[in-house]
This record gives sequence, structure tokens and C-alpha cells, in this order.
Amino acid sequence: MRVQFGSCYVELALGDITRQSVDAIVNAANSQLAGGGGVDGAIHAAAGPTLMQETIERYPDGCPTGQAVATSAGRLNVKHVFHAVGPVWKGGLKGESELLRSAILASLQLAKDHHCKNIAFPAISTGVYGYPIDLAADTSLLAVRDFIFEHHTPELVRFVLFSEGAYGAFSQRLEQLIV
Ligand code: APR
Repeated sequence: MRVQFGSCYVELALGDITRQSVDAIVNAANSQLAGGGGVDGAIHAAAGPTLMQETIERYPDGCPTGQAVATSAGRLNVKHVFHAVGPVWKGGLKGESELLRSAILASLQLAKDHHCKNIAFPAISTGVYGYPIDLAADTSLLAVRDFIFEHHTPELVRFVLFSEGAYGAFSQRLEQLIV
């Protein structure tokens, strides 16, 4: 599914983010940038050990929740990995929505800073961190739409969803955003 917002596109795909050919992919990292399972584990495994070496060297203090940092991409077929730290879901009243929005916006700002024409996101926070997929879709897509309307970049934002359920949640919400 692909939707146009101004001069930019938001696209949904079902698949594995490590197989994307885009300028940048976003990792769903933890604030220690210590690696883990899920999409974080898959990205580090596909990129190889240089990704963790660079992360430790450049960001020894990690990255706060709601922010993102950039590295190169090792063996991945992309130029950059942006390590975004989404919130752990604690019921919805602990600023989770603002923190998820902030993590997405920080990643998009890095894309702009690094002159990326296209970028792929996973559904940040919706795995180990327990964020309900429909609420994450809502917050994530609104953040992207708002950034695109303000900055007119990047040309393409792709959400790579790992299950039919996640794809369904994102596509339902994206349809509602078409004006
Ligand atoms: N490609 C795309 N999406 C993926 C992939 C993949 N290869 N692997 C998993 N996913 C999906 C999950 O199905 C989920 O919808 O990514 C989404 C985010 O799940 P997690 O990877 O568990 O990320 P998150 O919920 O943000 O938790 C982050 O998990 O792995 C640790 O180090 C990480 O501590 C951090 C925490």
C-alpha cells in the first residue's frame, strides 16, 4: 500500500527490514544500544560486528528513549542505520505516545540531515516493548505525515511490517489518513 502526502510517499510492506534497499533503515534499539532480539538482533546479525563496534565507540552513553542516533551499516545494503529508542508500553499514561512520536521524528530528522531520499522503519516498540500495534500505527503514521508536510522530505517512508496483523493495523490507519 502506498499513499502520497504532498510530494512524498508513505508505503507499507510486509517483510524483513534487513532485506530493504533504501538509504537508511531504522533499528528498534534499547537505550543502552546494547543489542537484543527482534529487529535489533536481526539488524546486527545482518550488518556484522562492525555495527556494534561503531555504536559502542560513538555512543558509549547510549541514547535516551525518544531519541535516535546514526551509524554506518556494515554489510547491509543501506547507507545508514538510525538506532531509535521507543518507549516500553506501561499502559499508555506514561508519555508513551509522545516518546514514540519523538523517536520517529528524531529518525526522520537524521534522514534529512544525512540527505536520505528514502527510509524504512519497523513498527518500533510493538514487540518486546509491548506497545499495542493499532496505537503504535496511529502514532507512528501521524508523526511521519506531520514531518513530511513540514519538511517535504524524505521522498519515501516505508514501514516494513513483520506480520499480517501488523500490516493490517498500519494499513487500516493509513487509509484513515487519506484526505
Ligand atoms: N523486520 C521487520 N520487523 C521486524 C523484524 C524484522 N527482521 N523482526 C522483528 N520485527 C518486528 C516485530 O514483529 C515488532 O512488530 O519489529 C517490531 C518491533 O519489535 P522488537 O524488535 O521487539 O522491538 P521493540 O518492541 O521496540 O523492543 C525493543 O527489543 O530487541 C530488543 O534491543 C531491543 O531492547 C530492545 C527491545
